[in-house]
Amino acid sequence: MSKILIRGAKVLGGEAQDVLIDGETIAEVGTDLEAGDATVVEAAGQILLPGLVDLHTHLREPGREDSETVLTGTKAAAVGGFTAVHAMANTFPVADTAGVVEQVYRLGKESGYCDVQPIGAVTVGLEGKKLAELGAMHDSAAGVKVFSDDGKCVDDAVIMRRALEYVKAFDGVVAQHAQEPRLTEGAQMNEGVVSAELGLGGWPAVAEESIIARDVLLAAHVGSRVHICHLSTAGSVEIVRWAKSKGWNVTAEVTPHHLLLTDELVRSYNPVYKVNPPLRTEADVLALREALADGTIDCVATDHAPHPHEDKDCEWAAAAMGMVGLETALSVVQQTMVDTGLIDWAGVADRMSFRPAQIGRLEGHGRPVSAGEPANLTLVDPAYRGRVDPAGFASRSRNTPYEGRELPGRVTHTFLRGRATVVDGKLA
Ligand code: DOR
Ligand code: ZN
Ligand code: ZN
Repeated sequence: MSKILIRGAKVLGGEAQDVLIDGETIAEVGTDLEAGDATVVEAAGQILLPGLVDLHTHLREPGREDSETVLTGTKAAAVGGFTAVHAMANTFPVADTAGVVEQVYRLGKESGYCDVQPIGAVTVGLEGKKLAELGAMHDSAAGVKVFSDDGKCVDDAVIMRRALEYVKAFDGVVAQHAQEPRLTEGAQMNEGVVSAELGLGGWPAVAEESIIARDVLLAAHVGSRVHICHLSTAGSVEIVRWAKSKGWNVTAEVTPHHLLLTDELVRSYNPVYKVNPPLRTEADVLALREALADGTIDCVATDHAPHPHEDKDCEWAAAAMGMVGLETALSVVQQTMVDTGLIDWAGVADRMSFRPAQIGRLEGHGRPVSAGEPANLTLVDPAYRGRVDPAGFASRSRNTPYEGRELPGRVTHTFLRGRATVVDGKLA
């Protein structure tokens, strides 16, 4: 059994401590621990976090291995400090049967870089017409608890109601991509001053907010859990705040890009900024940050959406929507939330590990950094400053909006059940 001693890291940003890993488990947390035969990782000045958990990752396999595979996506996840990711169902074929979710689950096991928890589709083929085999996916080896048609909205209220009723039986959750389809026909960017000036089809905030309002009411009516993907507007925050004030089982996520970027960037017509939901206004960005700080928004989720350059290096209207995010997520959260004083590192552990694991009912992740727990850990150097260079990404895709941008912080080490997947910022 191999032992590792992480020496002098600030655990969750608090006091400097030593953490001894023995095999797959945290054996001891304390001061002046004896190294003995353990490999020592000197971590003074660094922050030790529980391994990050992403509730929203597009791994693209099966079917779009030109964008990403489970292997390349989990490598990117490890580099970003993640020890578990939830894989979205909009693959080819769609992950709407036990067979497909088990395939993704098995590929995750084989990758060895990061645990992969498949998400199942809500409807057959993501077509929004007929419920998929939710029970069979839950009962499968993949043990699916999160269901989503992400990329598309479950817009039929009856289907949404049935899905909420169904998952309630096993404490599952429906993760909604809130986008009223009729209100967003032909939409190319946020509807507002910039879209009017550029003459691009606008994507109104109400298209997101009307679905969220409906779904929190449906979740309350059914007494089930609903999770809202990638909140992007100040109005969405108000609805979730109201639903939570009622005591309803509503949770929400925000992406790093919606915490940092605005629709002003679309003036460049660079499709790297094209994403669904679209980048919104400064006022929205500030409302999202505040909501993540006060707990209205539960967690950060990357919506890592890799696309090959043919699908992004083209004119705005033709470009695919989405951006990669796993390898930059923690740095963007440091810049927007920690360095601004809105949350501390314990808050980051909460928003990027504890809460997403709880929402996904994921076992073995999002656990405290204490003796007896699985050694899923992430070590961050918050003082690091570097420019984002997509050429160095572990992801197969390069569609980052941060190319050349200076971002703070770097994941130096990631440990998955006691095994280093990242050492000194590089894949082990
Ligand atoms: O920008 C996005 N890209 N939003 C989605 O909802 C889907 C995703 C994708 O699959 O590319
Ligand atoms: Zn989505
Ligand atoms: Zn997505």
